[in-house]
Amino acid sequence: MALYSEKVMDHFRNPRNMGKLDDADGIGEVGNAKCGDIMRMYIKVDDEGVITDCKFNTFGCGSAIATSSMATELIIGKPIDEALQLSNQAVVEALDGLPVHKIHCSVLAEEAVRAAVKDYYDRKGIAYDPAQFQFHNEEEEHGHTEE
Ligand code: FES
Repeated sequence: MALYSEKVMDHFRNPRNMGKLDDADGIGEVGNAKCGDIMRMYIKVDDEGVITDCKFNTFGCGSAIATSSMATELIIGKPIDEALQLSNQAVVEALDGLPVHKIHCSVLAEEAVRAAVKDYYDRKGIAYDPAQFQFHNEEEEHGHTEE
């Protein structure tokens, strides 16, 4: 069986929404200290609180590219609080799976979305529960990063 699903390969080869939004309403940047990969997510939010656009930049592995690409597709058109609920498992499922040692890459995508939402809330002065933005502990979540 192939290590990576066709969807993963597709999003890796043809990433959706890659780039930068100059007029972003929220920007989230997260990194994984172990593998050194970095992901930045930009969101544009309308007056109704709906994400109208999203772009990402990833300095990271193929799975980081594929998961951030899929994450942008999953949150565009969604209310911001729904985007906040996006889990890395949902991203992995949408990609028809990832090898176990690459799951931490999807965690990075989930965290980048949440960091962008947090930045949006901060900019707008919207109150939130800081517990919502406790990012995963790298030691327990990221496991091995060797190829
Ligand atoms: Fe670091 Fe994939 S995000 S190896």
